[in-house]
Amino acid sequence: ELKDNTIIIVLGASGDLAKKKTFPALYGLHRNNYLPRDVHIVGYARTKMDHEEYLKRVKSYIKTPTKEMEEQLEEFCNKCSYISGQYDQDDSFQNLEKHLQKLENGRKETNRVFYMALPPSVFIPVSQHLKKNCYPRNGIARIIIEKPFGKDLPSSRELQQALGPDWKEDEIFRIDHYLGKEMVKNLLILRFGNEFFGATWNRNHVDNVQITFKEPFGTEGRGGYFDEFGIIRDVMQNHLLQVLTLLAMERPISFSAEDIRDEKVRVLRGMASLEPKNVIIGQYEKSLDGSKPGYKDDDTVPKDSRCPTFASMVAYIKNERWDGVPFILKAGKALNEQKTEIRIQYKDVTSGIFKDIPRNELVIRIQPNESVYIKMNSKLPGLSMQTVVTELDLTYRRRFSDLKIPEAYESLILDALKGDHSNFVRDDELDASWRIFTPLLHYLDENKEIIPMGYPYGKSSTHTTSRSRGPAVLDDFTSSYGYKFSDAAGYQWPMVGDQ
Ligand code: BG6
Repeated sequence: ELKDNTIIIVLGASGDLAKKKTFPALYGLHRNNYLPRDVHIVGYARTKMDHEEYLKRVKSYIKTPTKEMEEQLEEFCNKCSYISGQYDQDDSFQNLEKHLQKLENGRKETNRVFYMALPPSVFIPVSQHLKKNCYPRNGIARIIIEKPFGKDLPSSRELQQALGPDWKEDEIFRIDHYLGKEMVKNLLILRFGNEFFGATWNRNHVDNVQITFKEPFGTEGRGGYFDEFGIIRDVMQNHLLQVLTLLAMERPISFSAEDIRDEKVRVLRGMASLEPKNVIIGQYEKSLDGSKPGYKDDDTVPKDSRCPTFASMVAYIKNERWDGVPFILKAGKALNEQKTEIRIQYKDVTSGIFKDIPRNELVIRIQPNESVYIKMNSKLPGLSMQTVVTELDLTYRRRFSDLKIPEAYESLILDALKGDHSNFVRDDELDASWRIFTPLLHYLDENKEIIPMGYPYGKSSTHTTSRSRGPAVLDDFTSSYGYKFSDAAGYQWPMVGDQ
């Protein structure tokens, strides 16, 4: 249920996240009439600026290719206002409170949703000041928070404990934006709404599962933040683990938030913590033609940084369904292409009548170009009994060509406004996920002799042959867990509309 009489307060309104994601998503919701009636959107940050200047900034964050969109942006701006203040001072927050009360104009019901687009260093003081000075007297209070939720299990618990006294779990919305992606939201439907998937979704039929995240750009400009976290904390402990959890969990009793999250926690608790022997790490270097910088060429990165920009690791789930099945996670920056996908490789068919027939694979492409396809064997039409690898293919652009796929942030902010926690991370879920990763992270942090393997920046402007997929050992690593690459008749999935 959307609540009337709501104010959305964006803290950190002049930062990167607000600019790239929060404001464009709020505008997208406005355009489609999904924001509460009479909503106000209040920006708060340290930068001093007047109303005009602020609106100019908001506008610069949002693309409006048509006249209609431009008009909608004007309407959107009419809902926006800005207050500058410090992140650690009562009088700043009292000033914000005065502004909120003015907007609320004496009405009885006062609902407030606080969106914390803030660096971790100010996160705790802001949440405390909000509780003390700006907590709504008569209405719902929600606080949307963003990673990093700590750096390991102890620091994540510390953060939890600092939030705990002020904010109840049902007021907290921890964003993992992968949970807002269309194809990630489809996983439960694909699995539990299709008997043929459900029946083979286990160790008897599945040989191995790969979850791959690739980006064709490095950490340009974000080196300072990234070096403290690295690829494992940046995308694996959160985004990829969420995908894994949804793939591996048992059927929830219902689609209600707590039923889904109960099952997610259960499967995470059944996972063994990651072992260093099942992990490789890498760091990108200059592209082969020298046109793209190496990770350590970034001025904000220490010259002796051991921070991984690539990692692959294998997780195991100790339960009846998955015991022994490797879940191979791979993530890297500065690789040859942009792609996030799940590849489930089935076991070999019984030998005898076939020789070397390729394995079935179910591929779920999360981005770009959402699609689900199954690689399967078929008879090559003709007089012989020759087989050929072909596919059953659901490509969204072809099948749902006139539907728009919403942005992850639009979907999640709307859920938070409605109070639906299904696609947000619960406290015990966060705890369970850090437990799986923390021993490995500490091992890598503490053992200074572990140096990431170099790999060339994947996509250089001139050198088309230097399209690196990560450290050279990657293919051997993956196949050592049972993945069989099949080059059967040069099979390639016929993508439509890929750039
Ligand atoms: C963020 C990471 O959480 O996710 C970034 O901090 C990464 O490093 C981004 O680039 C990827 O998100 P998406 O939606 O572009 O796949």
